[in-house]
Amino acid sequence: MFPLVLVAFALSHCALAARVCPRPPEVLFATINVDKKVYDVGEEIEYTCRPGFIPNNGQRKYTCLPTGRWPLNTLLCLPQRCPRPGPLQNGKIEAIDSHYQSSISFSCEPGYNLVGTRTSQCMADGKWSGTFPQCQSVTCAPPSIPEFGVLSYRRLKPGNVSHFLDTIVFECVPPLALIGNETATCMANGNWSSIPECRVVTCPTPTGIENGFIEFAVRRTYHYNESVSFGCQPSYVLDGHKHSRCEKTGNWSTKPICRGPCKIPVKKAVVLYNGEKKRVQNDLKEGIRHGETVSFFCKNKEKSCAYTVAAQCVDGNLTLPACFKERGFFSTLVKKDPSDMKPCEDQA
Ligand SMILES: *[C@@H]1O[C@H](CO)[C@@H](O)[C@H](O)[C@H]1NC(C)=O
Ligand SMILES: *[C@@H]1O[C@H](CO)[C@@H](O)[C@H](O)[C@H]1NC(C)=O
Ligand SMILES: *[C@@H]1O[C@H](CO)[C@@H](O)[C@H](O)[C@H]1NC(C)=O
Ligand SMILES: *[C@@H]1O[C@H](CO)[C@@H](O)[C@H](O)[C@H]1NC(C)=O
Ligand SMILES: *[C@@H]1O[C@H](CO)[C@@H](O)[C@H](O)[C@H]1NC(C)=O
Ligand SMILES: *[C@@H]1O[C@H](CO)[C@@H](O)[C@H](O)[C@H]1NC(C)=O
Repeated sequence: MFPLVLVAFALSHCALAARVCPRPPEVLFATINVDKKVYDVGEEIEYTCRPGFIPNNGQRKYTCLPTGRWPLNTLLCLPQRCPRPGPLQNGKIEAIDSHYQSSISFSCEPGYNLVGTRTSQCMADGKWSGTFPQCQSVTCAPPSIPEFGVLSYRRLKPGNVSHFLDTIVFECVPPLALIGNETATCMANGNWSSIPECRVVTCPTPTGIENGFIEFAVRRTYHYNESVSFGCQPSYVLDGHKHSRCEKTGNWSTKPICRGPCKIPVKKAVVLYNGEKKRVQNDLKEGIRHGETVSFFCKNKEKSCAYTVAAQCVDGNLTLPACFKERGFFSTLVKKDPSDMKPCEDQA
């Protein structure tokens, strides 16, 4: 009796064990269509990945085997990926990764405003939430200029709207002077970098220059940008700009200088002037003008030849070459003048 009972128990246990499967293994990020403690042999279950997760190519359906076991589970649910976002023109996107539920944030470079959402999430369907934003250039309103204003401006780029970094150029109605920066740039904050002013500027009656005069001068004050011109007395040479202009500072721009002529500091000599031999005592009594040169003849005693050395008139000063010897009355009678000697070969 006892052993029979034992066998019967063992049999019944065996039959029971063969007829059910336990709860199937859990798959991360997946649900099972039928959730029970035990499953009959031949019963089929199906895993579904949770939203935002996608199955690998493992099997999703499993059948409870007569052994009371489930076949080896090969399913994996992997997080959904969104495509690489961007690029965002004139801005940047900060992202750690692009998996389901990751978020990214958008920002724009200085001078650009973000239009649209600042952040976006990777959604279960593999798309980024919201619409992709844009970085729009800051615009600057036209600078305010009073009606009938003395200040006006020019846009350097065509169009009615000034964007970040566009520049404009201001102008004053003559004779007003523009004080400040004539160009302004549209800044990131939407303001112009600076707006100049137009002011009345006068310069005092111009004063004359030494050894010269003002041409057609009228004794009055002058406005900004008016100019006067200068001349020099005869035999003086004008050095610099002939015109002087009334500047924004109320000063006259640098005036020219009249440079004086030079007397040739010898009583008698033959020199080269403009390529021709001239007698100082006859032809160059008035001297030469500033900037001109004369060449003096010097003697090479050893080779009994002559060479020339040039001297320039610099504002009334002319320095004789050291080699030049002015001849006394006696020497002119007995010796040849260097200007009549044969030229030295190597001094040409
Ligand atoms: C510029 O703006 C003015 C007024 O705002 C408008 O009358 C004009 O047609 C615009 N010009 C252009 C080229 O858009
Ligand atoms: C004038 O302003 C521009 C910007 O608009 C700047 O680049 C330039 O250096 C300024 N000039 C002077 C003389 O300040
Ligand atoms: C722009 O200029 C206006 C007027 O000059 C000033 O009131 C405002 O504060 C400026 N804006 C910024 C952002 O600097
Ligand atoms: C100054 O005058 C000259 C002519 O003499 C003119 O060409 C120039 O445009 C003027 N400048 C200004 C800033 O008015
Ligand atoms: C221009 O005039 C001012 C006074 O109006 C003076 O202080 C300044 O030194 C002058 N500048 C030059 C370059 O002459
Ligand atoms: C001309 O000579 C004088 C003195 O003789 C001197 O003071 C002056 O600086 C000289 N000028 C030139 C331009 O060399």
